[in-house]
Amino acid sequence: MFIKYIGHSAFYIKTDKYGILIDPFITQNPVANFNENENTITDILVTHGHADHLGDAIPISKRNNAQITAVFELANYCAERGAQANGINMGGKIQFPWGTARFLPAFHSSTTPNGTYAGMPTSIILEIEGKKIYHAGDTCLNQEMKTVGELYTPDLALLPIGSKFTMDIEEASISAQWLKAKKVIPMHYNTFEPIKADTQDFKTKLEKQNIEVIILKPSESIEL
Ligand code: NI
Ligand code: MN
Repeated sequence: MFIKYIGHSAFYIKTDKYGILIDPFITQNPVANFNENENTITDILVTHGHADHLGDAIPISKRNNAQITAVFELANYCAERGAQANGINMGGKIQFPWGTARFLPAFHSSTTPNGTYAGMPTSIILEIEGKKIYHAGDTCLNQEMKTVGELYTPDLALLPIGSKFTMDIEEASISAQWLKAKKVIPMHYNTFEPIKADTQDFKTKLEKQNIEVIILKPSESIEL
């Protein structure tokens, strides 16, 4: 599979036949680089209801006949607006033709773009082609990450580092250790002025702990 960084917390994962979007914040995202028409999209996973994560999920779902999987209240919001939506809750392990996704806690808040309650914010552990990928969503450092490390030991962790709304570099470095992540891609930084972060500082910190940091520019991808 390959994993493409779209920008902010948006990623696109492509397996042989399937294409999975996570937190597809694209049209309003000043750094996004992704052409929907050039990519197969079969599923959309959304960590929480904030506009910089729900993003274009509803229109993309409708145009591509792709199901949105999200926490129950957020899935209902999407379904009411005409998207195919699969409402789940934390702890749920969802089987897809391409692998599994288990939704886990994130410590944050979650409202829909019209300000209504969107259920609990989440993180997601994916298992695809025998590899485990952890998308932290928006979160602070939290002890649940130790559980993720113990039970799942992600091959790749996608971690927010921008501070203000999420972990900063200090906390994200600790979370990478707690997660026992083999590789880390930082996210949720430099999209807007208030979440500026020095990725080189993050890389240096983690490399001292023998954790590989891969800094991707929007549209860049890695093979996993
Ligand atoms: Ni948020
Ligand atoms: Mn956010």
